[in-house]
Amino acid sequence: MTQPLARAIQKMKAAKRIVAFTGAGVSQESGVPTFRDHNGLWENHRFEEVATPEGFQADPVLVWRFYMARRQLAKQVKPNAAHLAIAGWEKQFSFAGVVTQNIDGLHAQAGSRHVQELHGNIWKTECSRCHRVEVNEATELSADLPHCRDCGGLLRPHVVWFGEALNESVVHEALLWLYQADVIIVIGTSGAVEPAASFVREAKQKGAYVIEINTQKTALTPFVDLTLYGKSAELLGGPLRI
Ligand code: OAD
Repeated sequence: MTQPLARAIQKMKAAKRIVAFTGAGVSQESGVPTFRDHNGLWENHRFEEVATPEGFQADPVLVWRFYMARRQLAKQVKPNAAHLAIAGWEKQFSFAGVVTQNIDGLHAQAGSRHVQELHGNIWKTECSRCHRVEVNEATELSADLPHCRDCGGLLRPHVVWFGEALNESVVHEALLWLYQADVIIVIGTSGAVEPAASFVREAKQKGAYVIEINTQKTALTPFVDLTLYGKSAELLGGPLRI
């Protein structure tokens, strides 16, 4: 076993309060594309068109097509060894929960019961008029765009788009977990998106020991205590299985 691996395991076993902080990389081995890697979503789509309120106003059909395609893919994929290992931590450790930037729902599907979804959830819709949020699992776009059954307003995916604020109560709970954690495992995120990345830096400043798992260096690497280079499902399903 390499020294960083042994150190990570020792830190996790001794931790009083662990939090996992995840990004698209944790779902990559399930077959969900990331955003900023080669062939990532933002290489093949203009985020201004499909992931901003202005884009939705200009062309809601284009935006809904983008999210329906992501739903169709999400329906076919399964949690991988990393999601399953993280779900197991709830029983193994004093584990507060998973703070994720992912919208694919795979942590909950793997069995994680405590998940804060900073950027929303692809399986939920939100009424753009009355803001009612509900689970809505359709994967086909009907002839008409989906509308709210309460007020008739246009439904949008319940995800956070560029230029929008994160949900306050989700952020509140996520920060409670992160600020009280003594060990944070950051998995599969480029750390390129704020404010999410700042939550990890702030928790580090408050004293958490931060372990990063990624295939490459990230914007968070200079701030963390330890980086384990490798694919998260391979590591967490193999040498880092605790
Ligand atoms: P990114 O696509 O920016 O970063 C994915 C990270 O995962 C990169 O650092 C990769 O090196 C790493 N990675 C890829 N495959 C991996 C694997 N198998 N194991 C471990 N690491 C792997 O995705 P995020 O950081 O999640 O927001 O992006 C943050 C936000 O930007 C997303 O939530 C999304 C996007 O715009 C919104 O849509 C609001």
